[in-house]
Amino acid sequence: MSPDKELKIEKISKGTVIDHLPAGTSPMVLRILGIDKKWENAVSVAMNVPSHGGDKKDIVKVEDRILEKEETDKLSMIANNATINIIENYAVKEKHHVSPPEFLEGVLECKNPKCVTNGKEPVLTCFAVENTEPLTLRCKYCGRIMDKELIEEQL
Ligand code: CTP
Ligand code: ZN
Repeated sequence: MSPDKELKIEKISKGTVIDHLPAGTSPMVLRILGIDKKWENAVSVAMNVPSHGGDKKDIVKVEDRILEKEETDKLSMIANNATINIIENYAVKEKHHVSPPEFLEGVLECKNPKCVTNGKEPVLTCFAVENTEPLTLRCKYCGRIMDKELIEEQL
């Protein structure tokens, strides 16, 4: 690409850049991060932009924000292989590749009403990754399988 045709999104001085997001997922990413009209810091979003491999990707840059574990866990449900870059003083201080954890604890609810995690005594939910593409999860307690659609409903 000639330099004047290159996409330019301002670099950030401090915060988080989520890069290599699957094309079209940035609105869900903003939802996971709770970024709505009340959010006051700068956020840049690029959707369906060219990626190196010739495919399309999304990018979300959030100033002055570090992701919590629960947010990273949720992100891994929709953005396998994305990268989380932690920026300080304009430099990439850390780069993490997003992938679903072996066990997803306390993030999603089991859809089985009879599951112990939906009983009176509080039991933290726990799902194991059953399949990655498309993502399916299996409840550790009752074995109920949750497919991509049901997972995304809860994010
Ligand atoms: N970035 C940014 N602000 C900075 C530094 C980096 O917005 N101060 C963004 C870059 O635009 C890029 C991402 O953070 O989208 C990762 O930066 P970098 O590691 O420098 O880029 P690449 O080497 O291309 O990353 P990768 O290998 O992960 O594709
Ligand atoms: Zn269950």
